[in-house]
Amino acid sequence: MSSENVFLIWGGEGWVAGHLKTLLEGQGKKVFTTTVRMQDREKVLAELERFKPTHVLNAAGSTGRPNVDWCEDHKEETVRNNVVGTLNLADCCFLKGIHITVFATGCIYTYDEAHPMGGAGYLETDKANFAGSFYSETKAHVEEIMKFYSNCLILRLRMPVSDDLNPRNFVTKIAKYDRVVDIPNSNSILTDLLPASILMAEHKDTGIYNFTNPGAISHNEVLSLFKEYVRPDFSWKNFTLEEQAKVIKAGRSNCKLDTTKLINKLKEYNYEVPEIHEAYKGCFQRMAKAGVK
Ligand SMILES: NC(=O)c1ccc[n+]([C@@H]2O[C@H](COP(=O)([O-])OP(=O)(O)OC[C@H]3O[C@@H](n4cnc5c(N)ncnc54)[C@H](OP(=O)(O)O)[C@@H]3O)[C@@H](O)[C@H]2O)c1
Repeated sequence: MSSENVFLIWGGEGWVAGHLKTLLEGQGKKVFTTTVRMQDREKVLAELERFKPTHVLNAAGSTGRPNVDWCEDHKEETVRNNVVGTLNLADCCFLKGIHITVFATGCIYTYDEAHPMGGAGYLETDKANFAGSFYSETKAHVEEIMKFYSNCLILRLRMPVSDDLNPRNFVTKIAKYDRVVDIPNSNSILTDLLPASILMAEHKDTGIYNFTNPGAISHNEVLSLFKEYVRPDFSWKNFTLEEQAKVIKAGRSNCKLDTTKLINKLKEYNYEVPEIHEAYKGCFQRMAKAGVK
């Protein structure tokens, strides 16, 4: 099946896109990347015609530099990229009969009474309830519409973590902050999850999946493991959500996602995703082995 597959990665210069490309090349698969703007319909259709992909992997979108606060001040650009462009690309793939996997976000929820810390977490069917950031708002809105496309697999990443200290890595970010909050969250260890995204794409799965490791882990637990395995002299300071709110423009989502649907789907392919604490240990052990400090 996979030998005939042709993957085209959108947002080709991005961080997740780079990981996908390396992974697919390592698997000996045919893969191309593009940086064509998703909202440019003519160019998108031309690109689909040029590469004739069987699978599009959409890892494009406005994530903001240095962080999502950028989206608060660039609303039209954020809408054009995260809503108009994302929908346009899904639509063009639909018209051409191409399966598309969208790397979306789970940062569309916040803990509430029905979904408290320590609970089972949000299901794919739960309505988004985090309105604290414009980035999250655009992502939640587009998902509500995109889910009706029958060629579309939507994978909700959260706080992605790579096996290096790339500036995009969630661990790199929190290790550099002067102070961090300490709240349990769902996280996505890319080494565990990206191979699963390829499996699901190849099986032409569709619909929405919470795309994180099972469980939730607090910032202090992450940094304690980081200290234990990677940087023994590391130390950090905490602050409260109220204190954090004074130094950021957009709010940050804190939540746990329920991964039952994902884990059950992956069982069909004999693929397992480790619980988040175990996954972090594996990730930091790989970092230490590679000499990352
Ligand atoms: N990193 C995270 O913390 C995180 C968490 C959850 C979900 N995600 C989602 O995962 C996806 C990939 O994230 P990432 O961390 O790899 O982001 P990234 O490094 O910022 O890469 C995104 C890429 O998309 C490109 N892009 C933006 N708008 C585009 C458009 N309209 N058409 C074509 N390309 C466009 C950007 O190019 P330009 O720079 O030229 O605009 C950039 O190269 C995003 O959709 C993001 O929302 C990321």
